[in-house]
Amino acid sequence: MSISARLPVFPWDRLEPYKAAAAAHPDGAVDLSVGTPVDPVPEVVRQALTAAADSPGYPLTYGTATLRAAAADYLRTWHGVAVADPRHVLPLIGSKELVGWLPTLLDLREGDQVGYPELAYPTYEIGALIARAEPVTYRDPVAELDPARVRLLWLNSPSNPTGQVLGAAELRRVVGWAREHGILVVSDECYIELGWEGTEPVSVLHPDVCGDSHDGLVAVHSLSKRSNFAGYRGAFLAGDPAVVAELLAVRKHAGMIVPQPVQAAMAAALGDRAHAVEQKQRYARRRTALRTALEGAGFRIEHSEASLYLWATRGEPCWETVADLSKRGILVAPGEFYGPAGAEFVRVALTATDERVAAAVSRLA
Ligand SMILES: Cc1ncc(COP(=O)(O)O)c(C=O)c1O
Repeated sequence: MSISARLPVFPWDRLEPYKAAAAAHPDGAVDLSVGTPVDPVPEVVRQALTAAADSPGYPLTYGTATLRAAAADYLRTWHGVAVADPRHVLPLIGSKELVGWLPTLLDLREGDQVGYPELAYPTYEIGALIARAEPVTYRDPVAELDPARVRLLWLNSPSNPTGQVLGAAELRRVVGWAREHGILVVSDECYIELGWEGTEPVSVLHPDVCGDSHDGLVAVHSLSKRSNFAGYRGAFLAGDPAVVAELLAVRKHAGMIVPQPVQAAMAAALGDRAHAVEQKQRYARRRTALRTALEGAGFRIEHSEASLYLWATRGEPCWETVADLSKRGILVAPGEFYGPAGAEFVRVALTATDERVAAAVSRLA
């Protein structure tokens, strides 16, 4: 069987008819479905990319020393990772690439299990299926998963799609269990900077969670949302030295290399806080406007204390909500894309311009 035959239908293809319906609105569609950045790439990032444009040679799979130092400094300074070490950092061609390939790179195979939340980014499942491993979902990994079979456990706090945040005590409990059983924990922290109303998401590498050792733990950080970097493709992982060394050894052979100008742009982005704060303020304004409008239109918002989404329900099947909103020219993602538990929810992304968000608000009124 080909690999693609093992994979589900690409979910976004199923949204096409609703996209067409939304586009028929006289004032055009407001697309709140995919969480893709729409604001400009920060000047500091563009300048670094341009300055590195003359890069004729092969870049390092391991990344430049400058980039790895910037990533370690970023983890230490902004996320309190006390023992962040540039030697134990590895750049990625965006984090989706890692999510899709990690089970294969770690040589998981038939009989091994990959655990991830019951409501989750769909690519955790895809990565398991590509490797022929078995995807298993959880609400509480400690209570539900078989530690003899799970080799890789994905965490995602703040969560896509629900925006739920796991506190340090909860993370510590899961990490303790996984370490006891020799299960590798990989924490996808791509929304870690987007906590709302005082919520401060914590990294799995924070000493309150893991003590002063990163054994058995990897954190994955994407620049896509923080730095409007999705088009450049840039992310990194950090953590367990043995895992970083193994992934580096395989990725070198496989040509999984971040382009040199992108490495330079990543280092600049990680070293600059001002643009990320400005971007977060834009999302905060859009979130407040959309949340108020959705609640006024009879939606209940669950979780959503962090991340780039509102997780909303009207207590009806998600495709009915998608259809109804598309008639008003608003496109959202059906909760079912993220697991059967999302059947009565829709995910509303905050990634539209102020003008389009204002249009959505008036259409919901
Ligand atoms: C939870 C989660 N992980 C990973 C990604 C991939 O991000 P990127 O490949 O842009 O780094 C996304 C993208 O939306 C996501 O929501």
